[in-house]
Amino acid sequence: MGVQFEQPSNLPTMIKNFCLQFTKIYCAFLVVIIISIGQMALMEMQIKDPLQRPHQIKYTDYTDILNYPTQEYNITTEDGYIINIIRIQAKNTTIQEHGKPPVLMYFGLNCAIEVFSMNNEEQSPTFFVANQGYDVWMIANRGTLYSSGHVNLTQNDPEYWQFSWQEMAEYDFRSAFDFIYEKVGRKKISTIGFSQGTTILLAALADYPNYQQKITQMILMGPTANIINQNSPAFTLGINIGGAPLLKKLGINKLVDEYKLLYYGTKYLSTFAHFVLSQITDSDVTVLNQERFQYFMATYPGGTSVQVYDHWQQLASETDQFRKYDYRNVTKNIIKYGSEVPPTYNLQNIKVPTHLFVGRYDRLGSPEDAQILYESLKLSSVNATMQLYDGGHLYFAIGRETPFLQKLQQMLIDQHKADD
Ligand SMILES: *[C@@H]1O[C@H](CO)[C@@H](O)[C@H](O)[C@H]1NC(C)=O
Ligand SMILES: *[C@@H]1O[C@H](CO)[C@@H](O)[C@H](O)[C@H]1NC(C)=O
Ligand SMILES: *[C@@H]1O[C@H](CO)[C@@H](O)[C@H](O)[C@H]1NC(C)=O
Ligand SMILES: *[C@@H]1O[C@H](CO)[C@@H](O)[C@H](O)[C@H]1NC(C)=O
Ligand SMILES: *[C@@H]1O[C@H](CO)[C@@H](O)[C@H](O)[C@H]1NC(C)=O
Repeated sequence: MGVQFEQPSNLPTMIKNFCLQFTKIYCAFLVVIIISIGQMALMEMQIKDPLQRPHQIKYTDYTDILNYPTQEYNITTEDGYIINIIRIQAKNTTIQEHGKPPVLMYFGLNCAIEVFSMNNEEQSPTFFVANQGYDVWMIANRGTLYSSGHVNLTQNDPEYWQFSWQEMAEYDFRSAFDFIYEKVGRKKISTIGFSQGTTILLAALADYPNYQQKITQMILMGPTANIINQNSPAFTLGINIGGAPLLKKLGINKLVDEYKLLYYGTKYLSTFAHFVLSQITDSDVTVLNQERFQYFMATYPGGTSVQVYDHWQQLASETDQFRKYDYRNVTKNIIKYGSEVPPTYNLQNIKVPTHLFVGRYDRLGSPEDAQILYESLKLSSVNATMQLYDGGHLYFAIGRETPFLQKLQQMLIDQHKADD
C-alpha cells in the first residue's frame, strides 16, 4: 500500500502556510529577496551591448570589438591537455608593422586568459604592451574555459583535475613555449607572469634551464613562490578547517564558479564583494578600479583543481621550501619523485634577468615573501630587481593607477636593446 498524499495545494496557500510557520519578518525578508532577484534578472535581460555582458562574451569576440588583431591556437601537451594560446597585436597597424619582440604572459590561480584585459583599455597590461608594438602571447591555464579539453578525459572525470601548477610548468609551459618560439621565427621572448603565473615561470626555468637561452627576461607581478608570510584571512581559515585535503576526501576535485555567483555578487552587492576581496587578496581595495571590478569578476574564478589549492596550502603552512606537490602518501611520493619528501625547485638554475613587481598590500604575494625570493634569485640571477607599489595582488590586473606599466615599458625597451 502506498502512502496517501494530500492534494497539492495551490501556490498562494503554500506561501500562506509558510508565513504562518515562520515569523512575518522572515517572510517580508524573503519577499524582498525574491523581488530583488527578479529585478536583477530583468535588468540583466535588458542589457544588449555585448561589452556590458563581460561574463558571456568570448575573449576573441571582445578583442574583435576593440579592434585588436587576435589569433587563437589550441595545442596538446605531452600529458594530453588541450591548451589555448592567444596572440594579440597593436590595434594601430602602423605600429604593428614595426614589429617589436615577442612577449609571453602567464596568469594566476584561477585566472582566465582575460585577466590582464579587464581594466580600462589603456591600463590593461595586455593591451598596453600590445599597443607598444610587442607581439603578445598568452597561455590559458589548464582547467579554465578555453583550456578545458583533454585527449582522453573530460572535466567530469576526477582524473582530469589531478594537476597542480607543477604540471602547468612541466607540460603546458614547455609545449606552449616551443609552439610560440617557432611561430615568432625563433626570436628571444620576454616573459611576464602574474601571481601563480610567476610560480609557473619560476618552476619551469628551475627545472628546464635550457629555455633561458630563448628568454630575454622574466617580469614577475605579485610573485608567489613560498607564501609562508601570506596574511590572507580567508586562505588561512581555509587551511585551518582542513582545506584542500578535506575537499578531496569529500570527493570534490574542481573549483569552478559555474553560475557566476561572484560576478553577480560583485555587480549587485559591491560592498560585500569589496569586503570579501579584502579578506582574500588585497588588504587595501580602495586602490582598485571600482568601475572595472565586475569586469574582472566576469571571468574570475576561471576554474582550477583542488590539488592546486592543496599545493598552495603546503607552501603556506607545511614547508618553507619552494617545492613540488606532496601527495600526502609516501609510496606515491617515492613512485613520482624517488624520495619520500617532494624535491625542492632549484632557483639557482635561474640566470635570466628577473624583475619583481610587488604590492605593499598584497596578502598572498606578501612583500616579506617577495624579499625572500628576491634574495635567493640575487644569488644567481644576472640581474634581479624588486619594485614596491602601493597596491595589492589584484592591483596589477585592475589597479586604479597603474604606474608599474611605465616601468614595464622601460624594462621591455632596455632589455631587448641589450639583447640586440
Ligand atoms: C589516451 O588514450 C590512449 C588509448 O588508451 C593512450 O594510448 C594514450 O596514451 C592516452 N593519452 C594520454 C595523454 O593519456
Ligand atoms: C598609428 O601609429 C603611427 C606611428 O606611430 C602614428 O603616426 C599614427 O597617427 C597612428 N594612428 C592612429 C590611428 O592612432
Ligand atoms: C580551442 O578549444 C576551445 C575549448 O575547447 C574552443 O572553445 C576553441 O574554439 C578552440 N579554438 C580553436 C582555434 O580551435
Ligand atoms: C598511496 O599510494 C599508493 C600508490 O599510488 C596506493 O597504492 C595507496 O593506496 C595509497 N595509500 C593511501 C592511503 O591512499
Ligand atoms: C641590471 O638592470 C639595471 C636596471 O634595469 C641596468 O641599469 C643594468 O645595466 C643591468 N645590469 C646588467 C648586468 O644587465
